Amino acid sequence: MNKQPIGVFDSGYGGLTVLKELTALLPQYDYLYMGDNARAPYGGRSFQTVYEYTLQAVKWFFEQGCPLVILACNTASAKALRTIQQIDLPQLAPQKRVLGVIRPSAEVIGNFTISKQVGILGTQGTIQSGSYILEIQKFFPGVQVFQQACPLWVPLIENNEYLGDGADYFVQKNIQSLLSKAKNIDTVLLACTHYPLLLQKIVKYMPDGVNIVSQGPIVAQSLKDYLLRHPEIEATCSKNSELAFFTTDTAEDFDNHSIAFFGRQVQSKHLLLG
Ligand code: DGL
Repeated sequence: MNKQPIGVFDSGYGGLTVLKELTALLPQYDYLYMGDNARAPYGGRSFQTVYEYTLQAVKWFFEQGCPLVILACNTASAKALRTIQQIDLPQLAPQKRVLGVIRPSAEVIGNFTISKQVGILGTQGTIQSGSYILEIQKFFPGVQVFQQACPLWVPLIENNEYLGDGADYFVQKNIQSLLSKAKNIDTVLLACTHYPLLLQKIVKYMPDGVNIVSQGPIVAQSLKDYLLRHPEIEATCSKNSELAFFTTDTAEDFDNHSIAFFGRQVQSKHLLLG
């Protein structure tokens, strides 16, 4: 059987925080990462644009042979995943799978809260879609969900300003805004795969005792469970512990940024998409 790597997609670097946890929990598989850095951030873009960009990416992963693609991007998961799964996949490649990061997070987030009030921090696109409210209600009907868009966090991170004083201003502002929506929020999900880079500052402005939850470990555990439940898909994933990286922007920039997101420098290749 022709076995191929698992595809991992993000608008830019954020998906590397997910890939880091995938390779930690499931190191045996091969992964092919692609960041659409040339068109990032996706957060403020329309449904139609995010859908078109994400579909282009998914088609590229399929052309590379990937049997399974993870959209390691909340914005793409919120705006494009359902249409791709329901409309495009049956025509393009019915035997292949595309998974996102919202459902796995929604499936477990209710387990972290005692007060039953959960906060969601995400991009404009993710928050506007209302996907987290819908999904969390399915699994935890007793949990109240409060959302806050943080439109400048991804640009600050992508522009390497996440450790600077300018970032403090926006992190504090958006956290205060979230917390002003309900008194007893005890759990906050970082619903954007870029946000773990701001963790230090998020912790600084979050009251003591609030659980701050990153998605990487959740998505990794969810993929592990998925592959156990779907041996027919698992059997098509190659296992040589190999990694390959592609970016739609400059490879050198990608490689330098990768240290902060992935924990080590990688060697990427440039790709022209679309
Ligand atoms: N990492 C993406 C997410 O999880 C960032 C989206 C963007 O490009 O704005 O939503």
